[in-house]
Amino acid sequence: MKKPVPLQGAVTVPADKSISHRSILFSACANGESHVRASLMGRDNLASIRIMRQLGVRFEGEFNAQALAMAEEEGIAGFTESGDALCRLRIFGEGFEGLRMPTAALDCGNSGTTARLLTGLLAGCEFSATLTGDHSLVKRPFRRVTEPLSQMGASFSGDMLPLTMTGGALKGIEYLSPKASAQVKSAILLAGLRAQGAVSVSESVQSRDHTERMLTAMGCAVRGEETPNGRWLVSLPTEAERLPLRPLDFEVPGDFSAAAFPLVAAAVTPGSEVEILGVGFNPTRIGLYHILRRMGADIEAMNARVVGGEEVVDLRVRYSRLHGVEVTADDVVLAIDEIPILAVAAAFADGETLIAGAEELRVKESDRLAMTAQVLQSFGATVSETPDGLRISGKPGLRAQAPSEKVAWRTSGDHRIAMSGAVLQYAACGSLNLSDQSAVETSFPGFLQCFEALLPQSRVR
Ligand code: S3P
Repeated sequence: MKKPVPLQGAVTVPADKSISHRSILFSACANGESHVRASLMGRDNLASIRIMRQLGVRFEGEFNAQALAMAEEEGIAGFTESGDALCRLRIFGEGFEGLRMPTAALDCGNSGTTARLLTGLLAGCEFSATLTGDHSLVKRPFRRVTEPLSQMGASFSGDMLPLTMTGGALKGIEYLSPKASAQVKSAILLAGLRAQGAVSVSESVQSRDHTERMLTAMGCAVRGEETPNGRWLVSLPTEAERLPLRPLDFEVPGDFSAAAFPLVAAAVTPGSEVEILGVGFNPTRIGLYHILRRMGADIEAMNARVVGGEEVVDLRVRYSRLHGVEVTADDVVLAIDEIPILAVAAAFADGETLIAGAEELRVKESDRLAMTAQVLQSFGATVSETPDGLRISGKPGLRAQAPSEKVAWRTSGDHRIAMSGAVLQYAACGSLNLSDQSAVETSFPGFLQCFEALLPQSRVR
C-alpha cells in the first residue's frame, strides 16, 4: 500500500452550485437581459437551464469545453465554445408573465434545489406543470414546500415527484419553518414575490442566504433579522416594492462545498500545502471551515473581497494533526453538505468526533449518514451511526487494510459520497480513482483534474 504523497499547488473549483441555480432561475424571471459569468457548472445547474428554456425563456452564451460537452449530453443546444475557462450566459427574462406552460414534464434530474425552488417560482403562474427527477429525487420529501405553498394558494397532486402543480392567485404567509432550510425559505420567497399580503419565513438558525442577497441585488430588498426568541426571520418588502426584478450582471464565486474536498485532503495528508483560489466565503456556508479550525486544522482565509454581493477568499491549508470535536445541530445547518467530508477528516483526527442533529442527511441525494458510515468502514475507520448523526473514533495516519484497488465502496450515485470516498481513498491508500465519475459531474465535473494538479501523475487513475 502506497503512502499518500503531499498535495501541493494552487487550484480553482467550479462555480457555486446554489448561487448558479439562483442566477439562472431568478434572471429568467427578471425583466431584461442578464449576464452571468461562472467557471465550470455541473449537471444540476444545466438542469435548471434546460427547464427555464422549457418555460419559454431564451438563453444564449458560451460554455467552456467541458461544460459544452455536458450541455450537449443534457440536450441543451445552441451554446458556443468560450475558448477560455469561463461559462458566460445571457438570459433574456420577460418577467414572470413571460413564462409559458411547458408541453412536457420538467425533469430536474438529481437536483433538489432546482425542483424545490421551481415549486415556488411556478406557484404564482396560472398554468399546470409536472416536475420529475431521477431515481434519487423521486424518493426525496417535497411536503416541506407543498405544505406552505398550498397554504398560499397553489395546488399539488402529491408530496413526492413526479408531481403536477397548478399555480394561481396567491396570498401572503407568515411561515414558521419547522426546519432551517434554504430551499424551503427560497420557495416561499419566490412565491411571495407575486402574493397579496405580507410574506415572511422564520427558521431556528439562519440557513444559506443567497436568495435574500440576490433578490436584494435585483431590486427586491429582503429584510433579515433576529427575533426576540432567537429565531431568524426574513421578510419581503411591500407588494409594490417586490417586482419587477432587475436583470443581473453577475459573477458566480467558486463553490465552498467543492473546495471542501481538496481542503480536507490537504488537511489530513502529511506535508501538504494547498491553495484554493476564489472560493465563496458566505458566513452561512462555511461551517466546515470553523469546525476544521476547532479540530486544529491549519487553514487561512486570505485576500478577502466581494464578488457579486458574496464574500470571496483564497484558502490556504497546510497539514496539521487534528483532534476530535463535538458537532451540534447549529453547526450542521452551516455545513449541511459537508458532513460526509467532515467525517473523513474526523477519521484521521485524534480521539472521538460526535456529529449530532444531522438527521436531515438521511433525506439528501442518499441517506448520507448510512453511506458515510459504510464508506468509512470500507477503509477501516471506526464509526457508528446514531439516529441523528455519526460517532467516529479517529486515528491519525489511518491506513486501509487492503491496497486501493481491493477496497470496494458504494456511492449510491451521490456526488458528495463519491468525492468523500475518493479523498478517503487517497489519504488511506495513497492513490485516488473515481468509481463514479457521472455522480461527481453533478457538482464538480473537474474533480479529477483538480487532484491531478495537486498530485504526481502516478497517484491519480
Ligand atoms: C441548498 C440548500 C440545502 C443544501 C443543498 C442546496 C440551496 O438544502 O443541502 O445542497 O441551494 O438552497 P436544504 O435547504 O434542504 O437544507
